[in-house]
Amino acid sequence: MKKKRELPEKICCIGAGYVGGPTMAVLAWKCPTIEVTVVDTDSQKIADWNSEDLPVYEHGLDEIVKEVRGKNLFFSTDSETAIEKSELIFISVNTFAPKAYDKETRKIIDLEFIEQCAQRIVSASKRKRIVVEKSTVPVDTAEMIKQIIRENCLENEIQVLSNPEFLAAGTAIQDLCNPDRILIGGGETENEREAVEVLSRVYENWVPPNRIIKTTLWSAELSKLTANAFLAQRISSINAISALCEVTKTDVEEVSRIIGSDSRIGRKFLKASIGFGGSCFQKDILTLAYLCEHFKLPEVAAYWKNIVAMNNFQIQRFSKNIIKTLADKVAGKIAVFGFAFKKNTNDTRESPAIKVCLNLLEEQSDVGIYDPKVKENQIRKELSRKNEWGRKLKIYSNPYDPCLDSHAVVILTEWDEFRELNYQRIFDSMKKPAFLFDGRNILDNKIMQKIGFQIKGIGKA
Ligand code: NAD
Ligand code: UGA
Repeated sequence: MKKKRELPEKICCIGAGYVGGPTMAVLAWKCPTIEVTVVDTDSQKIADWNSEDLPVYEHGLDEIVKEVRGKNLFFSTDSETAIEKSELIFISVNTFAPKAYDKETRKIIDLEFIEQCAQRIVSASKRKRIVVEKSTVPVDTAEMIKQIIRENCLENEIQVLSNPEFLAAGTAIQDLCNPDRILIGGGETENEREAVEVLSRVYENWVPPNRIIKTTLWSAELSKLTANAFLAQRISSINAISALCEVTKTDVEEVSRIIGSDSRIGRKFLKASIGFGGSCFQKDILTLAYLCEHFKLPEVAAYWKNIVAMNNFQIQRFSKNIIKTLADKVAGKIAVFGFAFKKNTNDTRESPAIKVCLNLLEEQSDVGIYDPKVKENQIRKELSRKNEWGRKLKIYSNPYDPCLDSHAVVILTEWDEFRELNYQRIFDSMKKPAFLFDGRNILDNKIMQKIGFQIKGIGKA
């Protein structure tokens, strides 16, 4: 009988971001005999991963990193050494929505980070390695990496697999420790099938084998894009209904509850909001739409692009509603609660809060922002794209101070602590009439009205 390929002793991950950092921390924690090195070109990020103040906030992450860092988990900028010594290499760099395809080179422009990684891997010394594409990529990216490997005559040594990540920000550790499924794409050749088994056995250290789905490279790549597109589609669908609810005196929460009780529809991802944010939904839908256009399916591309258009409409609708309701008072003080794109994360990429705050600043509002986990420099960086805003923009370290003498409180992230605040105290400190715009429907309208607020939620008459 053929000997099973050995499990790797050393793993490297290129990219120490929101996925690379937590994913490898959990892998190192669950596999104490494997040495894991996470590398990044961003030396500040690596310094932060090696410090007490990690660059990613996720519940439970600090404790895990503390336990394994320096034992079998390392963060470094020296990618050459880490790649050289590793048998299994995850690519977890950031990706972008593609804008163009070069027919001559068969390369998708905007995948240069992935390409750089592939070039670096083939320039390491010749030995058996498995390259795992963890970043979310357009279909055919693994083929592009394989082509670089073939050009360097390394196809017998290096196998390429797809292993997309499904963790969500805010619940990353829980998702990584107890995933719904692990998806592994690959297995065209005997070598590749062996590589799939090796990667699967690494996950089997903590994931039940029946949750590990093995499929082709294309299916894995396409399924990841499709999963995100379906999740985003549900949000845009309920947000579209929320606009209708507002003019028909219906409560969107009631509609969500009713339709969600149909087991075919299900309850999850039916929470109407100011719109979805995060680095991936929009990017991945645009990637999917790009693929459809590339394969001459313009109607299918248009269908998916509309999910993004509806999301932009929802964010603008919310901003316009504040501006219209406040009328001439919009140039006064406004308190903003939350800046992260969802609760329990410090991630602000594509956060709807960015657009809403920019819209208010452009209307000359004095915007005071409080977020429990997003740092001041991060908020300023996100909002400084058009202007520095001077004294118009203030960042606070508690939720009460920005409310003092303000005309309105605007809730943009559903942090649990915003449900528990002393709204009587907030109301008393505000100018009257005191407005409350609840972009996440986390407060009880009746209680807030009783205090005296004029409250406006999403999808509520
Ligand atoms: P990120 O921007 O947080 O991290 C990517 C890191 O890669 C950055 O620190 C960057 O400096 C580094 N990098 C880029 N090129 C490099 C190179 N050549 N060598 C070394 N380092 C390099 O991105 P992320 O949120 O971790 O996402 C990574 C991928 O995972 C994306 O494709 C994304 O779509 C996918 N994904 C993200 C999430 C999420 O929750 N953020 C979930 C599932 C999948
Ligand atoms: C999403 C997916 O849920 C993950 O499975 C996937 O791995 C990840 O994208 C990725 O590929 O990056 P994430 O964006 O981190 O995860 O967080 P979600 O919980 O999906 O929320 C996305 C956005 O939708 C947030 O702004 C959230 O507030 C919003 N949302 C979510 C709603 O407005 N309503 C809902 O019912 C659910």
